[in-house]
Amino acid sequence: MRVSIISLVLALDCMAYASAEVPVWQKIALERQQYRDASISRISPRIPNVQPANLPLNVLNTARSMLTRQEVKITEMSSTELLGLLASGKLTAVEVTNAFLRRAGVAQKLVNCITEVLPERALATAKYLDDYYRKHRKPIGPFHGLPISVKEHIGVKGLTYNAAICSKAGDISPDDHDLIKILGAAGAVIYARTTEPQSLMQFETHSNLYGTTVNPFNRNLTCGGSSGGEGALIGIRGSPLGIGSDIGGSIRVPSANNGLYGFKPTPKRLPSGLIAVAGGSDGIEGTLGPMSTTLEPLSLFMSTVMAAKPWVNDLSLLPIPWREESHFPVDPATGKPRKMRVGVMRWDGMVMPHPPVTRAINEVVDKMKSHGDQFEVVEFKDENYEEAMDAMWGLLFADGGDDVRNELKKTGEPISPLTEYSFIQPGTPKPPGWTLQQLWERKAVKSKFQSQYSAKWQAAGLDVLLCPVAPVVAGRLGTTKYGTYTALFNLLEYPAAVFPVSKVDERDNGVWKYTPKGGMDTENAMLWDANAYKGAPISLQLVARRFEDEKVLEALSVIQKALALPFDDPTK
Ligand SMILES: *[C@@H]1O[C@H](CO)[C@@H](O)[C@H](O)[C@H]1NC(C)=O
Repeated sequence: MRVSIISLVLALDCMAYASAEVPVWQKIALERQQYRDASISRISPRIPNVQPANLPLNVLNTARSMLTRQEVKITEMSSTELLGLLASGKLTAVEVTNAFLRRAGVAQKLVNCITEVLPERALATAKYLDDYYRKHRKPIGPFHGLPISVKEHIGVKGLTYNAAICSKAGDISPDDHDLIKILGAAGAVIYARTTEPQSLMQFETHSNLYGTTVNPFNRNLTCGGSSGGEGALIGIRGSPLGIGSDIGGSIRVPSANNGLYGFKPTPKRLPSGLIAVAGGSDGIEGTLGPMSTTLEPLSLFMSTVMAAKPWVNDLSLLPIPWREESHFPVDPATGKPRKMRVGVMRWDGMVMPHPPVTRAINEVVDKMKSHGDQFEVVEFKDENYEEAMDAMWGLLFADGGDDVRNELKKTGEPISPLTEYSFIQPGTPKPPGWTLQQLWERKAVKSKFQSQYSAKWQAAGLDVLLCPVAPVVAGRLGTTKYGTYTALFNLLEYPAAVFPVSKVDERDNGVWKYTPKGGMDTENAMLWDANAYKGAPISLQLVARRFEDEKVLEALSVIQKALALPFDDPTK
């Protein structure tokens, strides 16, 4: 942090003495940061400054110490509790919004996760909701008074709409995104926008516009990406619920890194509007989705959006309502839900997860086996996913990053190392990208793989699949590259949720007896050192088949209740 202050001073010096020499991108970035800081300074009461050099690795308690008792109490309730108190008039929307604005301001000082707060818009909305409540004695909708944060590239009317690329900072969204309109009509209060990495294509969150967002549980580690600002903000309890986007793991990785519940639906169920760069590219489809501190808000988010029939406005969406019928109905004789058949993929056969991830899988599987009347666990053996994943990255970066590189050139902005890595990883072409024939070949590989995987799943008779989110918990800054565990399900278009299980502690010390197979497996193995990841949340992923969005969330709820998850709460 000290280093970055020095470089900022140097940058300012440069401007004073040789302003003609200051690259355009640096001027844009400085403007954005001043704009962000000005928005934070309008939070009342004002947020005190902190000395980054004096901060501990885990800043949860630091955040608490900078807030009033009541602010801590409000911001540490679950969305469900908050919605209950708001709906019964025991808390006002203004009170709740102010508490989250304050904690978001504190979060910015501690982990650098905010691109701007919206105190005027949020408090005007909150006041409107309170007036409505006083007049009608009932909430306006299922999200009455709940503050919701959004990743910066999800359009908010009149505000910048970029992919964390300096040349796009001046692009202004003409309207609120459909999701923001629908949630707003249901009573949600949009109050904060959050950081994302350059081009959105990183599993960490670094951009030249805003710098690096770090993990509140251990500032030496990454918050994940690309919805990393959301992950860090919700992780530090500066937001009860946020909207992220996921095309390779961008909701699931930051949710996992911050001990949160995150959901990547099947594409074409929620309004998308993801175009920021490489518009029109459709080899792999992204989707928006919710992230929260507890599980219940994820289904509430989905059912509320679906109840508004988003497919009427957006004809690219499937007109499927949120189907509430149970996949695991309770048998009145035993009082237990229908038995669930759970496949376990311990690793992908390519990159072996670090010991804490394997420990979490073992703990969950052991506990499921001890509830043999409820769960039947079967090993779902790893395959060689190399050909499929080459097609995945080849389709996602079909232009070899050409579009982003051209955008960066406009302002002389340097490419961030992890953005560069995305473009040159195995499977991707050199700019300007594939010929049409080569692109079709990769689409054919994708279709074939989807059929094979579906057949294998059916043969195994699975309800859901349990697997890692990544081969590492929150990675050390600058090291997170491997995305197969999440991207596999973008390629397959299967819905997937992540959930917290435990946290890294003394149990993960000791020698890890594993001989890596070279390449990325070796690179990942060499990053392991129990001490470096201390306090990091450990999370896992639960997957169901395409269009089984309702089923995967219900299954997770059944598992969570039966097993009493998480086994260790990282916030404690
Ligand atoms: C955290 O990072 C700092 C600065 O790089 C380093 O000096 C320190 O040893 C790290 N702490 C741990 C526990 O790895």
